[in-house]
Amino acid sequence: MPPSVLFPFDTALLPERRTDVLIVGSGIAGLAAALSAPAVVRVILACKARVTDANTYYAQGGVAAAVSRTDSVRQHESDTIRAGAGLCDLKSVRTLTSEGPAAIDWLIKLGVPFDRHGRELAFTREGAHTANRVLHAEGDATGRVIQTHLLEKLAARPNVRILAQQFLVDLLVDRGRVVGALFLSPSGSVSSVRARAVILATGGFARLFRESTNPPVATGDGLAAAYRAGATLSDLEFVQFHPTTLYLAGAPRFLISEAARGEGALLLNAKGERFMRRHHPDAELAPRDVVARAILREMQETKTTSVFLDMRPIKHKMNSRFPTIRGVLHAFGLDPRHQPIPVRPAAHYTMGGIETDLLGRTGLKGLYAAGESAMAGVHGANRLASNSLLEGLVFGRRAIRAALDEPLSRPRRITVRLNVRREGPDLDVEDVRISLRSLLSRHAGLERTAEGLEEARKQIEFWERYTLARQFKSPNAVELQNMLILAELLVRSALWRKESRGAHYRADFPKTDDRKFKRHSRARI
Ligand code: SIN
Repeated sequence: MPPSVLFPFDTALLPERRTDVLIVGSGIAGLAAALSAPAVVRVILACKARVTDANTYYAQGGVAAAVSRTDSVRQHESDTIRAGAGLCDLKSVRTLTSEGPAAIDWLIKLGVPFDRHGRELAFTREGAHTANRVLHAEGDATGRVIQTHLLEKLAARPNVRILAQQFLVDLLVDRGRVVGALFLSPSGSVSSVRARAVILATGGFARLFRESTNPPVATGDGLAAAYRAGATLSDLEFVQFHPTTLYLAGAPRFLISEAARGEGALLLNAKGERFMRRHHPDAELAPRDVVARAILREMQETKTTSVFLDMRPIKHKMNSRFPTIRGVLHAFGLDPRHQPIPVRPAAHYTMGGIETDLLGRTGLKGLYAAGESAMAGVHGANRLASNSLLEGLVFGRRAIRAALDEPLSRPRRITVRLNVRREGPDLDVEDVRISLRSLLSRHAGLERTAEGLEEARKQIEFWERYTLARQFKSPNAVELQNMLILAELLVRSALWRKESRGAHYRADFPKTDDRKFKRHSRARI
């Protein structure tokens, strides 16, 4: 059992800031929440690294919403539910899809320049969508355009203060209510922020895997802190692998947007054969988990480490639709107009998170969560492509509205003592981190078995014994502690779910078992 806080503290001895609402995270959920706060409400928005270090910034494909005249909210709802493989919450999905068009309108009114054909908005398609409903900006730079735009708007709001490079360590809890949070700066100094309500918009934890599309910040620190404070985490076993990330020695696992397949790019195996039609009638546009596992199968059969994405059929669209992808490939000496690109799946999105209701409320008074850090029931066992930016937008705005109802209280001194302090030689944090990420990729990735998961569990518990018992004042080490806690919970949930569903595939239980497992996994301290 992990400690309830990572190190002891006394708030009377710490520098303290006060605000009405504390938002942690600078991706779309945090920004949408901050921009929706009335001007009289003081907001502090804290983030772990630079403000642009968030998954939002890297989102390419776009944001899905039933905005086009040929689409409907009902159709978006049913696609989302089908992708979720039996675990979506109907009310949550209905909230997401029915509020989607208004949320897009809000972005457009804020000036976000979505791509258009003439005056009409342009839409593309991604896997498992039955309509072209994915809006995009600057071709494949949707997340970057939205995030930089919202950050610019926020800079003009005098009621919002942004604190970058502040690592969330633990939540401050007073008589069962979350009243703020403790932060660590890169130099190791600790400070606190007191607030009526805290909204966690800290993103997911796909960076726990060796191969990941996510930036290094995506280590689930908000989830780990919420768990230690007593919140419930749910569905941690559901990790979505994006089928097509660049596979090249020395290159990051750079995402090659599903929109490329939506526009007509094809998947080829090492023999140059198109293989997806053998695996699913929707071929390249089958659900993400199906495509990712089909790629794994092809790699195993051809004894290779990648397959290929052939963008030659869409070479005339490379400049207008995929300028970012083209630029990155070019930097690594590849020209997608003339050659297929080596790709393989990588961990991309974590469906599980802090359990919330439709207003972002967690089980702890004063604590809210939105976006990838939350489990609001919209994604079930598998997220529909491009629903994540929409989720952050819709539920970030909802969370701040609810958070404003929290009562004001006078901050009281909070003291937490911890008796255990194990001394020892320096810990090579990087070494444990690399080993953990490899272990999870090996045993808790696209295909899982009881044997592999058990081996992972034992190894993680062993590392935890000498890592969690110590108190560190460096963000790197605290981050590793969070990663270990979440890795253990993920592996335990995957062991518990003796079936295959959505993104969770157990080779030893390949069928879906609705009778026993049509329910969420839950973890609470
Ligand atoms: C992509 O562009 O393929 C990613 C979209 C998403 O993950 O929602």
